[in-house]
Amino acid sequence: MVRQNVSGWGGRWFAGLVVTVLILGGGLGLHLVNAQGPQPGGWLGKLPADKQIEAIDRQLRGFDMAMFEVNYRYTEMYFGAMEGNWDYALYTGEKIAWALENGFQRRPKRRANGEAIFLKAAYPQVIDAIKKKDVALFKQRVDALRAACNACHAAEAVPFIRVGIPSIKQTPLVNN
Ligand code: HEC
Repeated sequence: MVRQNVSGWGGRWFAGLVVTVLILGGGLGLHLVNAQGPQPGGWLGKLPADKQIEAIDRQLRGFDMAMFEVNYRYTEMYFGAMEGNWDYALYTGEKIAWALENGFQRRPKRRANGEAIFLKAAYPQVIDAIKKKDVALFKQRVDALRAACNACHAAEAVPFIRVGIPSIKQTPLVNN
């Protein structure tokens, strides 16, 4: 009787272990599968084929998300230069143009003002100051740059979006 009880407990303990291992293993398996990318059952695949491009278009968003990146890189570029990390300031500063170009592809009507007011004017001047590693020149030109951001906002009917000199760093990057 006692022996039977003991083996009964042992059996249940073992069964519990097997179940636990299966669940953990199953979980791990699922994880590995997920790591391989979107699954057929994902949200995009569930949409009818003729609605998928539209959904991707909507998810990529418009000019607002391009600005989200421009704003991020503008801030990072500023602190990179202030900290003397000129390579990083150039790296992230050059991507402002890339982010804007992507924005123009999504919203072509923004291109004319963006090029005239920003890309062909204040922006190359800032990149030049970064390449010269000249902090005084950079400060002067970044002030002209933010004025160009604001001039474009005014021209594009969003004058209430006013850009200042950055005060809060976006990343924990250090220059050492
Ligand atoms: C094409 C001219 C143009 C230039 C150049 C430009 N912006 Fe913008 N920006 C816009 C427009 C248009 C919007 C509104 C976008 C929308 O709502 O679709 C905007 C929105 C923004 C927003 C709000 C984004 C949001 O939705 O949360 C920020 C922040 C911003 N801009 C920062 C900047 C900074 C910083 C610069 C310069 C380094 C800059 N912008 C240069 C046109 C411009």
